[in-house]
Amino acid sequence: LDEFDLDPCAPIERPWPIAQRHYTIEDDGLKQDWHGRVWCNPPFNKFERPKFMEKMSAHGDGILMIPAAFETNAFRKFVWDKADAMLFLMYRPRYYNNKGERLEFNSGGPMILAAYGFYNVRVLEKSDLGPVFKYPWGK
Ligand SMILES: C[S@@+](CC[C@H](N)C(=O)[O-])C[C@H]1O[C@@H](n2cnc3c(N)ncnc32)[C@H](O)[C@@H]1O
Repeated sequence: LDEFDLDPCAPIERPWPIAQRHYTIEDDGLKQDWHGRVWCNPPFNKFERPKFMEKMSAHGDGILMIPAAFETNAFRKFVWDKADAMLFLMYRPRYYNNKGERLEFNSGGPMILAAYGFYNVRVLEKSDLGPVFKYPWGK
């Protein structure tokens, strides 16, 4: 997915850098200014996740990874109404711990990547992670 300038919701201990700059829970990524191309894989907490989705859609440059919960308010407001493309991941993402060891569990359900901005649409189209649907949806 190419290089990112910022991960606004990064773990405190990371096995490798995710972006050039990281904000952790200690910084509170929601209170910071976001810059450049953002990778946003928000916390699963149902109060925080919509706030990260809102900030990502307002920022308008980057890729958001979230569960494929198409029917939720947050998905309607910040993905259907604001994203430029969606990629339906063909496989469930797997996770690694902070030592870089691959964990047994996966996302437990379907996930999508949402692109904000033309460059990020192109990146999704060039990836082989799954089918891409562009705004205007279904046209
Ligand atoms: C789903 S993980 C994603 C980790 C990383 N961005 C990645 O893609 O591998 C969500 C992360 O957000 C962090 N987090 C939770 N609340 C946060 C906040 N208010 N500001 C910044 N990071 C936060 C958690 O500590 C956790 O590491």
